[in-house]
Amino acid sequence: MKREAYATVHSQLASLLEECPDPVSALSTTAALLHTSFDHFFWTGFYLAARDGSGDLVIGPYQGPLACQRIEKGRGVCGAAAERRETILVPDVHAFPGHIACSSDSKSEIVVPLIEAGEVVGVLDVDSDQPDAFDEVDREGLKEAVRLLLESGNLVPG
Ligand code: SME
Repeated sequence: MKREAYATVHSQLASLLEECPDPVSALSTTAALLHTSFDHFFWTGFYLAARDGSGDLVIGPYQGPLACQRIEKGRGVCGAAAERRETILVPDVHAFPGHIACSSDSKSEIVVPLIEAGEVVGVLDVDSDQPDAFDEVDREGLKEAVRLLLESGNLVPG
């Protein structure tokens, strides 16, 4: 059951994050754990707020095929989730205006913003090669993973 799988992932993640002292470690570990825990995840990773103040997102740690390096402010599902500051679940990527196709195999997608001290510091993006692969269990499960990641304090560069 997917709900139970997320519960296991959350407890593994909480314990793994205790040993991840910096952002790269924490983001890489989170991406790898999520990606290897669910068969319907085809691409799993992070886009992070560019440090140049442009509002663009740049590629962070991920698992899966090579992906777009930079997403302009507000563009794609990732840019929309960052701008709206809310999770966006897209059952059919072709029906989402402005969707950015890093891979033609991607069919559905979910993006959760990472908000730290009121600032969007990045997004968690998960793609599936199956249409309509994500549901409310994924939405809550991924939001909880992001909450654990932010709560760990490991995204603050030390
Ligand atoms: N599809 C995303 C771009 C990132 S890739 O899916 C890895 C988007 O529309 O923002």
